[in-house]
Amino acid sequence: METKRMPFIVFEGLDGSGLSTQSFELKKWLEKKGYEVYLTKEPTDGLIGSLIRGVLRKELEVDAKTLALLFAADRMLHINNTILDLLDKGVIVISDRYRLSSYAFQSLEVDIDWLKGINEKSITPDLTFIIDTPPFICVKRIHTQRFHVELYEEIDKLEKIREIYHELAKEESNTFLIDGNRPIKSVSADIFKKVNELKISKVSRNESILPFL
Ligand code: TMP
Ligand code: MG
Repeated sequence: METKRMPFIVFEGLDGSGLSTQSFELKKWLEKKGYEVYLTKEPTDGLIGSLIRGVLRKELEVDAKTLALLFAADRMLHINNTILDLLDKGVIVISDRYRLSSYAFQSLEVDIDWLKGINEKSITPDLTFIIDTPPFICVKRIHTQRFHVELYEEIDKLEKIREIYHELAKEESNTFLIDGNRPIKSVSADIFKKVNELKISKVSRNESILPFL
């Protein structure tokens, strides 16, 4: 029996936009429907991801191009060590951030075409949701969650990043801008509708490894 590769779904947006909440809500919803789902994130918790977090917390200093290369390397490792394997085994993979984060955040300082170039070999998601939430709301949420502010969390930077996300929503395939300035359930409802349109095959991981049962 041939197993169709499962969908790779990505959430994008500003920090505090609600993308982690929505990734989790989608995971729960798909699991209730009987699918096996793996929720992951970038930067990862791996070796390169840990380096990146040091830079974001301003504990390490690297130039903008090197940081962009670190994000791209973290992503390639993520794809080759985790994502592809799971998709092939019948697991739906949801990632909290992926390459549009690099285009939106790093392009504040680095040419976007170069960023697209260094991410050229990354697989294209089946669906990308950009959770669009006004920066002043994001900043309010960030400040109630913790005290320290990371590299990209100042409001004027967030305004610019939001504009780039809007452009990307128009340019990129299978990418949808979702109004995040609403109750969690309303945001989720729009997302679930789009995911339904994927018509994900009902082949579960167990069936794919036990084809004759
Ligand atoms: P997080 O707070 O969602 O863990 O993400 C950490 C920060 O890293 C967030 O501000 C977005 C930023 N980021 C980039 O600048 N480029 C990227 O490629 C990724 C994945 C994240
Ligand atoms: Mg953050």
